[in-house]
Amino acid sequence: MRNKKVLVTGGAGFIGSNLVKRLIEDRNSVTVLDNFMSGYISNLEPFSSIHIIEGDVRDKTAVEEAMKGVEVVFHLAASVGIKRSIDYPLIDAEINVLGTLQILEAARNEGVRKIVTSSSAGIFGELKTMPIKEDHPVEPISPYGCTKLCEEKLSLTYAKLYAIEAVCLRYFNVYGPNQRFDAYGNVIPIFVFRMLRNEPLHIYGDGEQTRDFVHVDDVVQANIKAADSSGVSGAFNIASGKSVTINNLVETITKGNNSTKIKYCPERPGDVRHSLADISLAKQKIGYIPDVDLERGIEEYIEWARQSIKDNK
Ligand SMILES: NC(=O)c1ccc[n+]([C@@H]2O[C@H](COP(=O)([O-])OP(=O)(O)OC[C@H]3O[C@@H](n4cnc5c(N)ncnc54)[C@H](O)[C@@H]3O)[C@@H](O)[C@H]2O)c1
Repeated sequence: MRNKKVLVTGGAGFIGSNLVKRLIEDRNSVTVLDNFMSGYISNLEPFSSIHIIEGDVRDKTAVEEAMKGVEVVFHLAASVGIKRSIDYPLIDAEINVLGTLQILEAARNEGVRKIVTSSSAGIFGELKTMPIKEDHPVEPISPYGCTKLCEEKLSLTYAKLYAIEAVCLRYFNVYGPNQRFDAYGNVIPIFVFRMLRNEPLHIYGDGEQTRDFVHVDDVVQANIKAADSSGVSGAFNIASGKSVTINNLVETITKGNNSTKIKYCPERPGDVRHSLADISLAKQKIGYIPDVDLERGIEEYIEWARQSIKDNK
């Protein structure tokens, strides 16, 4: 995608800022709408040409201003994470459901061609079949999973009702640069930062639970390909298509660092036992092919985390 006018909601966040980087490299004209609830202005400092609107997706006026002349919307702004949604279910619903509706209404009024929304594997709940296909039952076990499912359904309903295409990307566990330690429970940043600070790593349960980790560059690739696709609306899994146990992940992270202590703790409510995506539909419909292998991605992430501790970010 080149030379397009696009809106990135949540562009100051972890995934959003990586997407903005790629969109700028591809010479698009980028507006970011973000209230900096969990995003950082420093993530956007390298990009002098973008238009930043500090505002809330629940605020009709701010959303309408951000939407002016836009052809494609990447909607990433959200109250993110299982734990946060259990602690603040009303805020989670207001931002993820009502905020998404504000975006959809403004997009339809502006004649936006395509909206790409950021959904989550959290919509599935406990795994029933493996690997998880898009038609796997959706029985979320957290308010976050419920509101992300609602966001998807609203977007796809707009695609049925109006002349707007909607692609909902169901991310599994995303990791990569700009993912801070305080990223509400994401395991890779927590393990890496704790290792670098010589703190013990806490594994909840026996460590044999599995996750499908996907690098943020692959998530960015999926967003761009979804935006470029023509005549495509739907919900697609975005993952690596490979699963690792948390014990294996710890080995990959701590390789060459035998002094790191591991502590096993009781399981946490809301965590699923297994996760592995079937990504063939995204490949077929939008041409998504993950490219970053976990070992390489972790090595690069450790370097980023080391630098960010040095810079005190
Ligand atoms: N990181 C993951 O593993 C993962 C997995 C599945 C889905 N997702 C989804 O991807 C998207 C991006 O997640 P992320 O990991 O980059 O999180 P993030 O918290 O880094 O980014 C979210 C951004 O949205 C902004 N924001 C929050 N509420 C807002 C509001 N009311 N108005 C305007 N801006 C608001 C935040 O300030 C932040 O910049 C989210 O929709 C999330 O649900 C992420």
